[in-house]
Amino acid sequence: MGYDRQDHYYNKAKREGFRARSSYKLIEIQKKYTIIKPDDSVLDIGCAPGSWLQFVKQRTKGKILGIDLTSIKPIEGVEFIHGDINDKEIQKKIIRKFNIVLSDIAPKTSGMRERDQYISYQLSRESFLIAKKALKPKGNFVVKTFQSQETEKLVKEIKPYFEFVKRYVPQSTREGSKEIFIVALGFKNQ
Ligand SMILES: C[S@@+](CC[C@H](N)C(=O)[O-])C[C@H]1O[C@@H](n2cnc3c(N)ncnc32)[C@H](O)[C@@H]1O
Repeated sequence: MGYDRQDHYYNKAKREGFRARSSYKLIEIQKKYTIIKPDDSVLDIGCAPGSWLQFVKQRTKGKILGIDLTSIKPIEGVEFIHGDINDKEIQKKIIRKFNIVLSDIAPKTSGMRERDQYISYQLSRESFLIAKKALKPKGNFVVKTFQSQETEKLVKEIKPYFEFVKRYVPQSTREGSKEIFIVALGFKNQ
């Protein structure tokens, strides 16, 4: 049954012209929380191959910027920066003012579960630190993380900065996957 679901989203992405099945996770988040409005500017952290960017492009006329370690096939009207979000020079280039910061960032998995979880936590936290500097007041932030004992710590750190914070697991997440999304709405700009 798990495999049916994987095939379903893989095939759906092919049919609908999305570069990856991960697009449906953002689509579900958008359906539930309406995070992106028609004129919003959006920063997408860990954006390759670009299926979230494709969906974001359909949703807003605002500026869109993507960043990733891996380069992507260009998308019209979307700016892309090739680099590592831990690099301070790269951070200077991406920290501008946005209504929305998204991060589907994930480490290359090594198979060593605890190590992967910890690196995921670090990347998700770095995404939050960037969001804190880049978000406009009332802005929204969505970040993926591999569930671990650090997840609670991250949620606690994010909470005071937003009006609403929830953990969310989209239906289209692969069965058996331990990833969750933290959806944070209404940046309080402290
Ligand atoms: C699950 S993929 C993102 C998929 C994307 N949302 C989409 O729908 O096409 C995670 C991405 O995080 C990127 N990534 C991991 N570590 C990174 C880092 N330190 N800096 C920038 N990107 C990173 C990976 O290269 C990978 O492309």
